[in-house]
Amino acid sequence: MKILNFGSLNMDYVYQVEHFVRPGETMNALSQCVNCGGKGLNQSIALARAGAKVYHAGCIGTGGERLARELMENGVDISCLTKVDDIQGNAVIQVDRSGENCILLFGGSNRGIKPEMVKQVMEKFEPGDYLILQNEVSCLPEMVTEAKNRGMRIVLNPSPFEDSLLDLDFDDIAWLLMNEIEAEQISGQKNSDAVWQLMHGKYPSLSMVVTLGKEGAVCYTPEGKTAQMAYPTSVVDTTAAGDTFTGYFIAALTEGMEIRECMRRASKAASISVSRAGAAESIPGRQEIERALADI
Ligand code: RIB
Repeated sequence: MKILNFGSLNMDYVYQVEHFVRPGETMNALSQCVNCGGKGLNQSIALARAGAKVYHAGCIGTGGERLARELMENGVDISCLTKVDDIQGNAVIQVDRSGENCILLFGGSNRGIKPEMVKQVMEKFEPGDYLILQNEVSCLPEMVTEAKNRGMRIVLNPSPFEDSLLDLDFDDIAWLLMNEIEAEQISGQKNSDAVWQLMHGKYPSLSMVVTLGKEGAVCYTPEGKTAQMAYPTSVVDTTAAGDTFTGYFIAALTEGMEIRECMRRASKAASISVSRAGAAESIPGRQEIERALADI
């Protein structure tokens, strides 16, 4: 069984701020740094640090070489990356004193994925292999169709949410991993039990996880519900917490661990990631998680 993540790669321009800049305001940032990010890249690195073998497909544009290197140094297979003649996808991220962020995305090279590229990459994958998707790249519908035709299991993190996601047939999706805001955007329901009732009614073989910030996370499968508390931590930067959760959850799931253990690991990894600055660099390694969980 192989894991393919067809996802974004961003250069993150991160600004530490007193408060998020307001309309019409000009404000000095407290500090600035340039990090590796993108929901796709972060999730591949989380998968790899959790111990999974992962292939990352996507587009490297001008100025994106550092992103390919970062994946490779983390043990991610980059043979499915394509070079394109466009500016590298990037994000402008403000992080305030409480660790909250707001993110402005520019797709750039991430929008350079073409249907032929999707076909070519997926030829290397087989029934039972996993495809991990987020919503920062072009050709998402083509990826879902191609993966379904190949009998792959699709995991969708519908982030950032856009109405076009509602055109996807969720019958083709094995797992939806999302935060409570995305869950409401997808279903129109506020409460995660109500989200599940609606989604399960429409798509009986779907499973899903809803992350609830300080309230933890909850997993629903046709077999039942598993709630997980959030591990308390001091919040430095919430960027990539959801990506860390997703990577760790899928890594544990594909190793055949019980859902309770997948949730425990994912939640612990996300709590460590918010206690550190940055996106990819905030993601902990497997040994650290196992040590931390053994101490509880
Ligand atoms: O989820 C965090 C990520 O969202 C950042 O790394 C940024 O690049 C955006 O994609």
